[in-house]
Amino acid sequence: MNVSKTLTDMVPLSNGIQMPQHGFGVYKITEMKELERAVHKALEVGYRSFDTAQMYQNEGLLGEILHQSSFARKDLFITTKINNGNQGYDQTLFTFEQSLADLQLSQLDLLLVHWPSEKHFFETWRAFEQLYEEKMVRAIGVCNFQMHHLEKLKTKANMMPMVNQIEVHPYLIQTELREYLNENQIAVEAWRPLARGKILNEPILEELSQRYNKTPAQIVLRWQLQQDSIFIPKSSTPARIEENTNIYEFELTMEEMNKISSLNKNLRTGPDPDKVYPTI
Ligand SMILES: NC(=O)c1ccc[n+]([C@@H]2O[C@H](COP(=O)([O-])OP(=O)(O)OC[C@H]3O[C@@H](n4cnc5c(N)ncnc54)[C@H](OP(=O)(O)O)[C@@H]3O)[C@@H](O)[C@H]2O)c1
Repeated sequence: MNVSKTLTDMVPLSNGIQMPQHGFGVYKITEMKELERAVHKALEVGYRSFDTAQMYQNEGLLGEILHQSSFARKDLFITTKINNGNQGYDQTLFTFEQSLADLQLSQLDLLLVHWPSEKHFFETWRAFEQLYEEKMVRAIGVCNFQMHHLEKLKTKANMMPMVNQIEVHPYLIQTELREYLNENQIAVEAWRPLARGKILNEPILEELSQRYNKTPAQIVLRWQLQQDSIFIPKSSTPARIEENTNIYEFELTMEEMNKISSLNKNLRTGPDPDKVYPTI
């Protein structure tokens, strides 16, 4: 992957579909005014890719805001995810219809399985393949799949996921899984790219922030960009939404990249997929 030069640069998925490398996450924004302010600001500063989920309970609000905006459908890239309780063949198809209606779309850009489920594993994926064949979605993928989940999926799948959205930030760099995904042409999409701000006081980030006259958050997002991840920071704060886009006019050296990666502690801020997995 070539490092994107602007916020709207796209990266190709394995099926040739182009996806913006840098998108906007809307987890936990469920209040219309807050979401409206955030999405309007995000559109104004150049975001075109929006990441929601059935679980976030804001597909309808996001759909309405984007519908009312002046942006053409073809210029937007919308992702949603099938919730754990909605997995299985019938439920996936049924709730996908609802999501599509809530988002006011006739075709979705990217549909993801939110968490791996032992019980519904293959049936959910069968529905995903059908939606893809029917051109209801332009790309299909998963979230939070470990290597063993993907190896299991491979035994029956007709097509493999184009994306795996996983927790990645300097405290959880996921080297082994990322290498596996690269080898298997599955794009890495980093969720919680700022570790919800928990990393921002690290001295190395402060040091680089002074060197480049950037904030620690901008340094971390630049690290995500140069790691070739797709990444989707969230903010409800207009100034931060803009701040998070100003990462394209400087470059970290390999040594600086490695120093940031050495903050790794294999620390998850979200659930461990192997612990959620047996229960859903
Ligand atoms: N697939 C999955 O299982 C999964 C799980 C979790 C998240 N996600 C996706 O990933 C997206 C991003 O993850 P996330 O929202 O959990 O965490 P995140 O993007 O790492 O961090 C968001 C938090 O950081 C703050 N922040 C944003 N920009 C900042 C800046 N420049 N300086 C300081 N603080 C800043 C935000 O505060 P304010 O909002 O107050 O500005 C917010 O509290 C989600 O919105 C969702 O779309 C997917």
